[in-house]
Amino acid sequence: MNELIWINGDVSPLADARVGVEDRGYQFADGVYEVIRLYDGRPFTLREHLKRLERSAAGIQMDLRTDRDALAAEILRFIPRAGVRDGMIYLQATRGCAPRNHLFPNNCRPTLLFYARVLPPVAAPGQGEGAKLRTVPDERWKRCWVKSIALLPNVLAKNDAVAAGADEAVFLEDGIVTECSASNLFIVRGGKVITHPVGPKVLPGITRLMLLQLAKQAGIEMIERPVAFEDAKSADEAFITSTTREISWVSTWDGRTIGKGRCGPVTLRLHQALRDRVVRETKSLAGAA
Ligand code: PDD
Repeated sequence: MNELIWINGDVSPLADARVGVEDRGYQFADGVYEVIRLYDGRPFTLREHLKRLERSAAGIQMDLRTDRDALAAEILRFIPRAGVRDGMIYLQATRGCAPRNHLFPNNCRPTLLFYARVLPPVAAPGQGEGAKLRTVPDERWKRCWVKSIALLPNVLAKNDAVAAGADEAVFLEDGIVTECSASNLFIVRGGKVITHPVGPKVLPGITRLMLLQLAKQAGIEMIERPVAFEDAKSADEAFITSTTREISWVSTWDGRTIGKGRCGPVTLRLHQALRDRVVRETKSLAGAA
């Protein structure tokens, strides 16, 4: 399939697309990004993602030079052209191309781009193999609430986890587990869900945000507080969330089985609620189209 890309308003084949060698994203990782899920050709929580993009850009003093509505309209126009129904939009904004200098350039046009890609379907709630977690020391910066393209510590962590036979790395600092290399972390104890607050060490995940709302509606108590590694290991259930994986129940953590070694009832209810929300939102978009 010929994938397309949108770059600063122009659409071209992804394979032919070029950005300058002195693009600050390439030289300084000076940029931010979003991953937005497509279900049946419709974006899920597009507004929330674009809001977070704006917050991330402001967090690195970058002017996107576009507004949320204009960008949403471009994305909605692009999706049918790209022909991707079930997959994702990768959206990236860098500070743009300028002679290499640590100082911000004056009047530099950001490089704003997005493309769509097909993704395999996610397992139904409670199904599939559980995720295997591996704890790694947190070597990231202290602005993890910014969805920065500077992902090398996350990349190294994920590779360490996979080399150790796991699927996802959990960051540990001062005895506290915060989030994972590309997902948010939740534990369940006594029917209550606990997750670390967002901030210096935790990205405000959009899936996490949805779950906070859905848990409330379902009468499931969700507590935002630091999670001690020692407590987490003996949780009844654990799960991780992201745009691309939705919710994955955790089967093992550092080789030890979590709970009963299968998807727990609270995780299952939340995943079902998320699926229902996806169907509601993407159907209402279909109605509006
Ligand atoms: N990552 N924490 C980190 C460090 C992440 O990279 C991600 C998502 C999340 C979950 O956020 P959300 O629910 O908004 O997807 C948490 C994306 C999917 C990625 O880098 O591919």
